[in-house]
Amino acid sequence: MDRLATGPDHGVMNNESPPLALVLGGTGRTGSLLADRLARRGVTPRTAARSGAAVRFDWDDPATHRGALAGVDRLYLVTPTLRVRYAAQVAAFLDLAESEGVRHVSYLSVHHAEQAPAGVDIAAVEADLASRHGLTHTVLRAAWVMQNFVDGHIPLVDGVFTVPSGGGREAFVDAADIAAVAAETLLDPAGHAGAVYSLTGPQALTFDEAADTLASVSGQAVAYRDIDQETWISGALAAGVPAEYAVMLRWLTGSVITGHGATPTPDIEKVTGRPATTFRAFAERDAHAWTTITPEPK
Ligand SMILES: NC(=O)c1ccc[n+]([C@@H]2O[C@H](COP(=O)([O-])OP(=O)(O)OC[C@H]3O[C@@H](n4cnc5c(N)ncnc54)[C@H](OP(=O)(O)O)[C@@H]3O)[C@@H](O)[C@H]2O)c1
Repeated sequence: MDRLATGPDHGVMNNESPPLALVLGGTGRTGSLLADRLARRGVTPRTAARSGAAVRFDWDDPATHRGALAGVDRLYLVTPTLRVRYAAQVAAFLDLAESEGVRHVSYLSVHHAEQAPAGVDIAAVEADLASRHGLTHTVLRAAWVMQNFVDGHIPLVDGVFTVPSGGGREAFVDAADIAAVAAETLLDPAGHAGAVYSLTGPQALTFDEAADTLASVSGQAVAYRDIDQETWISGALAAGVPAEYAVMLRWLTGSVITGHGATPTPDIEKVTGRPATTFRAFAERDAHAWTTITPEPK
């Protein structure tokens, strides 16, 4: 864990009303789990998304922003997905959040955010948060999420995952562990103010190893196939991923291909007191997803 310079002590969370956390991406992989955890621990969550959440929130519709923030003193920040240019939008929202009484932000960032290519606003959002004196913040830099394998982000086609990796490794992290860390930071903002956590699983795995684990746990044929990076990105764009997101896909897969994928860190255990979830434990817990996959043709 690294620590950034923190802002001045401004009496975070010292009012007497019950804490209320706005959870952006509240129907997503980490946001939904985070909301459950907060509710169990005495912080009221207000989930926010364009649909299906407690409150409608659309990054592209500022009219939805102020109402979502009413009474909120802490925020889980998930930036607009499948985009790379959002720093100005986020800055405007954080200005509003500060003026509406938010005093802490926990930001879901990406592993090695400091190495993000020019034109990707991840590091800009981290810098924005660090520059604010009216609120404290915590940065959660997550590795590739294990759930990518079961929710269609890395589609399984005829029993095969096809992703460019060059045999490289990634310390895939369980979204539930990210949510657990996020919960701790939102339950005790002062205790995590200025912290930058690198959230990874306990092992750096190749995609072959991940597929083998999923095959052995599910009892079904699951294989991995490497692919040329640009061919894969072209396929993703043809399938509907916005063109501006290509730079992000190139960066994320390029890190793995060049041997710079995430490596295990102790941060999840440091914050939660529990070891990070192994890929096998994740696969066993989510095995039901593997009973519905398309089996390899006989
Ligand atoms: N996937 C990974 O491996 C990984 C790894 C590290 C970090 N991250 C970061 O995690 C963040 C979340 O990505 P994810 O893929 O895991 O998604 P997710 O959190 O599972 O889902 C996205 C959430 O954001 C909401 N959302 C999307 N667009 C929105 C918009 N324009 N306005 C308001 N809400 C919106 C979605 O609900 P609605 O669609 O209903 O609005 C949903 O609740 C991203 O910043 C990503 O960079 C992802």
